Amino acid sequence: MNKKTRISQLLKSTPAGQIVTAKGWVRTFRNNQFIALNDGSIITNLQVVVDRDRLSEDILKRITPGAAIIVTGKLIESLGHGQTMELVADEIIIAGDSDPETYPLQPKRHSLEFLRKNGHLRFRTQTFSAIFRIRHHLAYAIHKFFNDRGFYYMNTPIITGSDAEGAGEMFSVTTLSLNDVPKNEDGLVDYSQDFFEKETNLTVSGQLEAELAATALSNVYTFGPTFRAENSNTTRHLAEFWMVEPEIAFADLNDDMDLAENMLQYVIGYALEHARLDIDFLAKRLENEEKNKPQNERSFPLLEKLQSIIDNKFERITYTQAFDILRNSKPNKKGKFKYPVKEWGMDLQSEHERYLVEKKFKKPVIITDYPKDIKAFYMRLNEDNNTVAAMDILVPGIGELVGGSQREERLDVLHNRMKEMNIPTEEMQWYLDTRVYGTCPHAGFGLGFERLVLFVTGMTNIRDVIPFPRFPGSAEF
Ligand code: 4AD
Ligand code: MG
Repeated sequence: MNKKTRISQLLKSTPAGQIVTAKGWVRTFRNNQFIALNDGSIITNLQVVVDRDRLSEDILKRITPGAAIIVTGKLIESLGHGQTMELVADEIIIAGDSDPETYPLQPKRHSLEFLRKNGHLRFRTQTFSAIFRIRHHLAYAIHKFFNDRGFYYMNTPIITGSDAEGAGEMFSVTTLSLNDVPKNEDGLVDYSQDFFEKETNLTVSGQLEAELAATALSNVYTFGPTFRAENSNTTRHLAEFWMVEPEIAFADLNDDMDLAENMLQYVIGYALEHARLDIDFLAKRLENEEKNKPQNERSFPLLEKLQSIIDNKFERITYTQAFDILRNSKPNKKGKFKYPVKEWGMDLQSEHERYLVEKKFKKPVIITDYPKDIKAFYMRLNEDNNTVAAMDILVPGIGELVGGSQREERLDVLHNRMKEMNIPTEEMQWYLDTRVYGTCPHAGFGLGFERLVLFVTGMTNIRDVIPFPRFPGSAEF
């Protein structure tokens, strides 16, 4: 069963009449003679040439788009245009038929919305197979980056009792029947009868647990699914997404920014090297897509955009500097922002982030030292008592790609912040204990993995870079 060569391997070999077997799915069958065969190992199809006299009518009829076939034959140099070699079929076995009357993929362009509804077929298209191969290479590059630098991969719980971000955007986990919820004397849900005998939810971030590991193993990272029940129906948000969260001991905010910048440059470089054909394909796709747009609305050519990330240092500015730039900017003065920039302390909206990244600096921007009131409880309070040692990395076309901070390692300050922000301190003694016993300066960040894939593929909707997207109103497949 396993005797086959992946098409990516075949296309690298020298065709000299050797007998090979290829297995894959028919993309097209042209003139009853040329099969474009793809097995997902590479974006390029293998051309299979059919000798009509050697194959039965029955087999010929069953070579239809989507059919799974096994081809054995001679690999020879191709004289035709568009390919260097072709497989002349001696034998074709139909492993799985595909009824051309009902097969939803036709040899024309399908809209991304259409394909999203046909999740099982998305993988069969050039665009999505390219995206998911790139996604794989990026994931591998992340593991390689951290492994090569002495970080340990740490798995943090998916079911947890805490809200790491303190934002209350959590999905509950329970085995209690919603039709018959046990209540206590106060009329509240009696979680002592639930599976874990306490209230639990799906994790929004593995950071707090990663901090425990980092303050013993020094350098760790997580790479796992996280869940947010925020009702954000945007092209940048998912309810289930994958996050990469390194945590480093004896480190400050500058170390944190350096790590994030190095990591992004490394993984993008890795993708350019190992997924070049797929990135080239998506770059052309984007170019075609935008042909009809006016010049000023077109995005930067994908390859140039990615190369510029590797070649340039990211801009680093404080929130206060960003605020001043925005307040004095043309769009603000002309009333073009939906959210006018007036008062220090306001949260930056995506229109502001895009102005800074796409108009002002034209490269990734790291904004640091945000007002404490718009950031999470665990971020280290700066000496001004007003801002925290936070950093967000913003990139063109996406906005926030990374969010991180130096952590508050001083027990008393952390305790006060948690009280101020109504974070329950009793239940979080396990976290506070890292500050009681051998506390140390430490820092970390979270990279939204799908946002990275979005950036590298040049796609515009985050739902198209995760195999099975979950968003408000949709949990298909
Ligand atoms: O900025 P966030 O909320 O930070 C944290 O969760 C920290 N605990 C990270 C840390 O310091 N260890 O999320 C981090 C990143 C964001 O910058 C964004 O890229 C991504 O996660 N993200 C989302 N991606 C897709 N869909 C959503 N709903 C997302 N929310 C955040
Ligand atoms: Mg954030």
